[in-house]
Amino acid sequence: MSHGNGHDNGNGNGNGSLPEYGLLAQYEDVDSIKKAAEKVRDAGYSNWDCHTPFPVHGLDPAMGIRRTRLPYIIMAGGTLGLLTAITMQWWMNAIDYPYIISGKPYWSVPANVPIMFELTVLFSGLTAFFVTLGRCGFPRFHHPLFNSERFAKVTDDKFFLAIEARDPKYDSVGTKELLEATSPTAIESVEDDSKVSGALPKPLVYLLVVAFVAGFVPLGVIATMWYSRSELPRIHPNPNMDFQEKFKTQTYNALFADGRSMRPQEEGTVATNQVRGDNHRYRGLTKDGEWAAGFPKDFVLDEAKMNRGQERYNIYCQPCHGAAGFGQGLVHERATKLKAAKWVQPSSLHQDYLRAQPEGKLFNTITYGIRNMPGYGWAIPVEDRWAIVAYIRALQRSQLADLKDVPEGERGNLR
Ligand code: HEC
Repeated sequence: MSHGNGHDNGNGNGNGSLPEYGLLAQYEDVDSIKKAAEKVRDAGYSNWDCHTPFPVHGLDPAMGIRRTRLPYIIMAGGTLGLLTAITMQWWMNAIDYPYIISGKPYWSVPANVPIMFELTVLFSGLTAFFVTLGRCGFPRFHHPLFNSERFAKVTDDKFFLAIEARDPKYDSVGTKELLEATSPTAIESVEDDSKVSGALPKPLVYLLVVAFVAGFVPLGVIATMWYSRSELPRIHPNPNMDFQEKFKTQTYNALFADGRSMRPQEEGTVATNQVRGDNHRYRGLTKDGEWAAGFPKDFVLDEAKMNRGQERYNIYCQPCHGAAGFGQGLVHERATKLKAAKWVQPSSLHQDYLRAQPEGKLFNTITYGIRNMPGYGWAIPVEDRWAIVAYIRALQRSQLADLKDVPEGERGNLR
């Protein structure tokens, strides 16, 4: 192939030993490059391209470019991602390491949807990115067309059509005639110097080598620390909240004027079990520390209070002790059905020792629980606890009624 003849105004390179890249034709407007493209397309060339300063509508059909197949490839990539997610989760959760989580099945689709979605998107995205890159011939650091000075105008206002010499239909005379027939404003032959300038830029090569070698340094450091002993603490790059300033009890703390790390209590602070005042009301005790009999002075027992006691009893006690207090509530029935080991039946409240028990002791049982029964002082206010005690007394009376307790008029209804 010759260059430097005809329209070739040369590019100053002058090195005749380089192979030819192809012919570059210049046009001034959209219409002429479209017409030129149609001619080249119809002539049956395959290794050629148009270069324009902006996207030109209709150029693709003029060049005979088909719709891209990229969507199908991405579809395949996404499907692969979906299958990967399904297989991976199924294998991990149902086969390799089956583990019951909240009684759910080892394998069920809903739980796996997020990962299925994520991998589908990830694989589609990566496929789109890399296939586009690859199909465009990237990464590429140099193109022979850049050797043409006039080609720089492609980012300004000129249109170019380049036919490559490697095209099977290419022939330096015939192809040139074809291009001339499309009335370009210039035609030039471009040298292919990609063998010479197509390599990676030297600085980039050095940088990559340095980066690659430097990449081993952290690994080396880690490996060294792994196998060596040291008096010093390990390097701790991410401290999180592993080391926090704190003051231990009975130590010095410069933050406070008195230099003590422990702060004195707020004035008037009382621990909950040290509430002063009515011993009977708050602890069910007499002055001498005996269980107090009867109700606290300020506790007024009327119908409303008794109803309140019944209501609270039904909420807090009935599940175990039963509605009538025989210790056969639903919780007990259930535990019996399950043959629960170590289950202790809730006490029947109709035992003689409980009938005889002082009210203060019952109050204490509700507050702190007893043996296997948990305390309910945290949930039931003091006044309500006394109301429950009153209701227990009523329950107990109900089982010990005397003929005297029945109003005279009703006695005939008894068997
Ligand atoms: C979770 C079940 C459960 C609940 C709720 C429960 N209890 Fe008990 N209760 C028991 C069990 C069990 C015992 C017997 C404990 C033992 O003997 O170890 C018991 C024992 C008792 C005793 C006998 C104490 C003694 O001196 O022997 C009384 C009185 C009592 N409960 C009252 C109540 C009252 C009042 C409530 C409601 C505020 C209540 N319980 C709520 C399970 C419960």
